[in-house]
Formats: sequence, C-alpha cells, structure tokens
Amino acid sequence: MKWIIDTDPGIDDAAAIITAIRSGLDVIAITTVHGNTPLKFTTRNALLLTELLDVSTPVYAGTERPLLQRPLDAAQVHGSDGFGDANLPAPRRQPEPVHAVDRIIEAAHQHSGQLSILAIGPLTNVALAIAKDRSITAKVSRLVIMGGTSHAQGNTSIVGEFNVLADPEAAAIVFESGIPITLVPWETTTKAVIPAAAFAAIRSSSSRLAQTFLTISEPLCETTRRFLGMEGIVLCDLVAAGVAIDPAMVTEQVHTYVGVETAGTLARGLTAVDYARHSGRQPNATVCLDVDRDKLTALFVQAVSA
Ligand code: RIB
Ligand code: CA
Repeated sequence: MKWIIDTDPGIDDAAAIITAIRSGLDVIAITTVHGNTPLKFTTRNALLLTELLDVSTPVYAGTERPLLQRPLDAAQVHGSDGFGDANLPAPRRQPEPVHAVDRIIEAAHQHSGQLSILAIGPLTNVALAIAKDRSITAKVSRLVIMGGTSHAQGNTSIVGEFNVLADPEAAAIVFESGIPITLVPWETTTKAVIPAAAFAAIRSSSSRLAQTFLTISEPLCETTRRFLGMEGIVLCDLVAAGVAIDPAMVTEQVHTYVGVETAGTLARGLTAVDYARHSGRQPNATVCLDVDRDKLTALFVQAVSA
C-alpha cells in the first residue's frame, strides 16, 4: 500500500509523520494544508521533518484556506509557527512545484487501488481533489482520518473538533464521497495520552530528531496538563498514524454512517455518528473508539528515539 500524509504540522502531526515513516509506511508524498498554523508554516514544518528524518519524501503545498469560511488556527496549542515557536532553522529543501491537490489526483490514478491517505489536518485538499476528479473515489483505497468526535465532545467548540470545524464543507464532501473511512475521533485520542514516563526514553536519545521533538512539544505537555489534567501528551494525529500502521491496535470500533453538520451555529462541524442506525444511510466509516495505548506508546518512542 502506498500512502500520502495530508497534514498541518503541528506538533502531533510531527509525531504522526515521524512514526509513520520510521515504522516503514511507504509514504510517497506529504501534502500540506492550512490548519494549526498558516500554510507557509505547515509546509516549512513538513520540509523540516523530512530533513530531520533524512528522507527524500517530497512535500507538496496545498490549500491555504477553507472552502468557504475564514481560516481557524491553533496557535494557542502549537505556537504561532506550528512548532512551539521554537525558532528552528529554516529547511534547506523546497516544496515540489506541483499543487498538493494535483499530486493526490495523480497518485490515485498512478496507484489505483493501492493508495491510502492519512489525513491529519483539515480536509480541504482531499475535498478539492474529489471535486476536481470524482473518479478518484473509486481509486483511493482508504482514508484514515484524525477528526471529528465520537460523542459530540468538541475540542474547539461545544461539538466541534478542530480538523472538521476548520472546514466543515470539505469534511462533508469527503464523508459523502464513498471512499472507505477509518475515523479516529477526538475522544479516542484522549484515551491514548502518551505518558510522561515515555519521555524519559526519548530524553536519553542523542538524536537531533528526538531532541527537536522534545523542544517543539513542550507547549503540548502544558496543554494536556491544563485541559485534561493529565501528565503526558495528547498526540491526536499519532493515534491515526498508529491505526494506519497497525489496524490491530484498535480495540473497539463501530462501522456505521457518519454525517457532517455544516448548518447551524452550535452544531456546525459536528460529526453525527449514527450508532442506532436512525438515518437508514449506508455505513461510510469505521469509527475507532479505543486503541491499545501501550502498543502506540512503544511504537512512538521507538520511532522518535532511533
Ligand atoms: O483536533 C486535533 C487535530 O487538530 C489534530 O490534527 C491537530 O494537529 C489539529 O490539526
Ligand atoms: Ca493535524
């Protein structure tokens, strides 16, 4: 299986990208999107990660704003530059001269039936690829998405999780596309907090990658402590990467219809999970409700400390 990682790095995106590549996922492209921080920073951060990982994975810059609404950001969590305002040196590499949306379409045709997408940012790039060439919905094997909520417990609004709330129209296009979805919602990621003890092993690593991750992730430790009262770090996108790497890591799931609410004020951005099958709609997603936290932690520590 070939993979594209569509991402808005972002500290937890960094954990996901590091773990996906170091665990051997065949990542043929990293496509960047607006989200935690503006596109210029998500693209810069993706390039920095490929240098720290010493891989030649190409990076393609995508869309800098949502389909309709004004952009959101998560500077209060990830810093204004998306990497904890750690003032890392600029990357030497440049993004590819092809738009992310066009690379997604091209890869879907090149690797028909053998391409999956790990989508860990707002879904604007994926939605535009579907809108531009609907035939890819029969060619993309699976979308593993970090986004939405399983029980309407939002992290950005009452019911809204950041990735879906940042572009609800894009999420609605993707969820109605017919491409099989594995969904890793916000509540599930809060059950898989990487414990503070895991960081001892990372601190003992002398690798530039490990030390850089520790530097940029400091703000997320504080956010986890403040919002969830836990010692450790919630790495939402890492959970999605873990599920992409090893689907057996999922310990509880439900296969049903999930709809995205784009209207309203309080409910805009809600991912409505049809547990009781009231909608009568065909299932479009497998919602991961719990994962093996120890297995995920071991995978991450090994990847980032190597
Ligand atoms: O809600 C968490 C998601 O929003 C993660 O992907 C994080 O990186 C932010 O993009
Ligand atoms: Ca993200």
